[in-house]
Amino acid sequence: MSKLAGKVALVTGASKGIGAAIARALAAEGAAIVVNYASSQAGADAVVADIVKAGGKAVAVRGDVSRAADAKALAEAAVEHFGRLDVLVNNSGVYEFGALEEITEEHYHRQFNTNVLGLLLVTQAAAKHMGEGGSIVNVSSLVTRIVPAASAVYTGTKGAVDAITGVLSQELGPRRIRVNAVNPGIVETEGTHSAGFIGSEFEADIVAKTPLGRTGQPQDIASVVTFLASDESRWLTGERLYAGGGLR
Ligand SMILES: NC(=O)c1ccc[n+]([C@@H]2O[C@H](COP(=O)([O-])OP(=O)(O)OC[C@H]3O[C@@H](n4cnc5c(N)ncnc54)[C@H](OP(=O)(O)O)[C@@H]3O)[C@@H](O)[C@H]2O)c1
Repeated sequence: MSKLAGKVALVTGASKGIGAAIARALAAEGAAIVVNYASSQAGADAVVADIVKAGGKAVAVRGDVSRAADAKALAEAAVEHFGRLDVLVNNSGVYEFGALEEITEEHYHRQFNTNVLGLLLVTQAAAKHMGEGGSIVNVSSLVTRIVPAASAVYTGTKGAVDAITGVLSQELGPRRIRVNAVNPGIVETEGTHSAGFIGSEFEADIVAKTPLGRTGQPQDIASVVTFLASDESRWLTGERLYAGGGLR
């Protein structure tokens, strides 16, 4: 039987990259999906079309996670379209590396607003609609373990995500809502291509240190998220699952 039959999931930043793969994977297990995007409507529409073509249910909803009104509307969209909300995947994120002397207020606020404030606002809005058996999965990063040079702000945002995952597992545990994180290593996505990571010395160095010897693909992360979203992980909360081919 499908692992998520009858469930409804909201995936933020699902118009491309890791989020799009997560939306497709959760839908393949039977969940109806709210496919959130910020600017790439065509990408979100393509993900919805793929899901519907495969016999699933999905709707694309625009919203900037760092705005409280948008976060609230995203959670409400799940209830309006599909009648409930069981799974939240906080995947939306931006990354911009820079050495200490390159840090600016804009560099800081852009990343903390989306990666931390956005995660908090969407979780706050979604938790109101979630009940016993709910699962929240935060997409953090393996950078919190390898702490690469010139990533203080981005790694700082994901350190906050790791800490918040623990805090909210304590807060939502009594309501039987689980909160876990997946911490991916480098993954080939539209974002890592446009940031110049794919094909760079940084990528080559990471792959050389990775026991499984390659860059991750979005599906590698989506299957871990599917596990954390489903009852197969019912005894896990407040945990971090590192998905980086053994990189440490
Ligand atoms: N790729 C990696 O190597 C890697 C490794 C570890 C962790 N991660 C984490 O994995 C997540 C996804 O990364 P990715 O590489 O797949 O990124 P990506 O290809 O750049 O896609 C980012 C997604 O986030 C959305 N987004 C950005 N700002 C948003 C906002 N304010 N509100 C709502 N959505 C917003 C984008 O929407 P639009 O396109 O519609 O604007 C897009 O769907 C991020 O949290 C990232 O930190 C990535």
